[in-house]
Amino acid sequence: MMVLKDETFKNLRDFIYDTTGIYIPDTKKYFIENRLSKRLEEKKIGSYEDYFYLLRYNADKNELKILYDKITTNETFFFRETKQLEVLVEHVLPKMKEDKRAQTMKIWSAACSTGEEPYTIAMMLLENPKTSSIRFEVHASDLSDVVIERALKAEYAQYAIRNIPEAYMKKYFKQSTASNYQLNNEVRTKVKFVQLNLLDDKKMRGFRDMDVILCRNVLIYFDKKAKIKVISNLYESLRAGGYLFIGMAESLHDVTRVFRPNVIDKTVVYQKV
Ligand SMILES: C[S@@+](CC[C@H](N)C(=O)[O-])C[C@H]1O[C@@H](n2cnc3c(N)ncnc32)[C@H](O)[C@@H]1O
Repeated sequence: MMVLKDETFKNLRDFIYDTTGIYIPDTKKYFIENRLSKRLEEKKIGSYEDYFYLLRYNADKNELKILYDKITTNETFFFRETKQLEVLVEHVLPKMKEDKRAQTMKIWSAACSTGEEPYTIAMMLLENPKTSSIRFEVHASDLSDVVIERALKAEYAQYAIRNIPEAYMKKYFKQSTASNYQLNNEVRTKVKFVQLNLLDDKKMRGFRDMDVILCRNVLIYFDKKAKIKVISNLYESLRAGGYLFIGMAESLHDVTRVFRPNVIDKTVVYQKV
């Protein structure tokens, strides 16, 4: 078993924080060991010091991708926290449609993991009579290239699909193997995926005039400083009057006051005023 010295842990931890916003506290040294020790073995890297050196000074892009894959938690599933998505489809978008007429709604799933969130939204928009006539674009992004590749394949196992209503399953999925289900092209073509780090100010500027942003279940991995930065980037990407959804268990309390919190059907939605 390789030894992770405290000093090297701190170097790696700070490097991860500076590049991704993901904060690993002193008490979670085991997190780095759990997630990275196998990778060092695979790459035949002799020590954590060498690994840090490779990332920090060799700026090995491929290894960085793998690091992002290892240290992110990509847990997600279709129809997660559905209440918020119902508020989006039943209230927010129909209201926006009345206000701006005949334009395309731009919706962005800003930490989309393996694609379940943006695909759920696309299906709900197609199915709901209140939104079926709305023109929309669903954009989806994540830090990890590995999850984006899986999202593009759009093939899912039982865990991911367990909450999907039967009618949706029948209409939009086809069994592809003994345990997997393939999402159909009608939904797949509605979502545009791209790799994006929410801390990357320059690339974030490419996302403009969004009507709705969902940034759910990712802020929990950041410290306050990184949350403030990400939320302010997202604020810039929204059009005036646009809405931000964060996870049900998350809050913008002590992060920012620039959004107006609206309560719609017992759900908090943040509006750029
Ligand atoms: C737990 S998943 C949430 C997925 C989905 N939004 C949901 O609620 O089911 C969190 C995602 O945030 C991504 N993530 C973490 N840090 C990020 C960053 N700095 N920029 C973009 N995405 C990031 C991770 O790769 C991971 O896929």
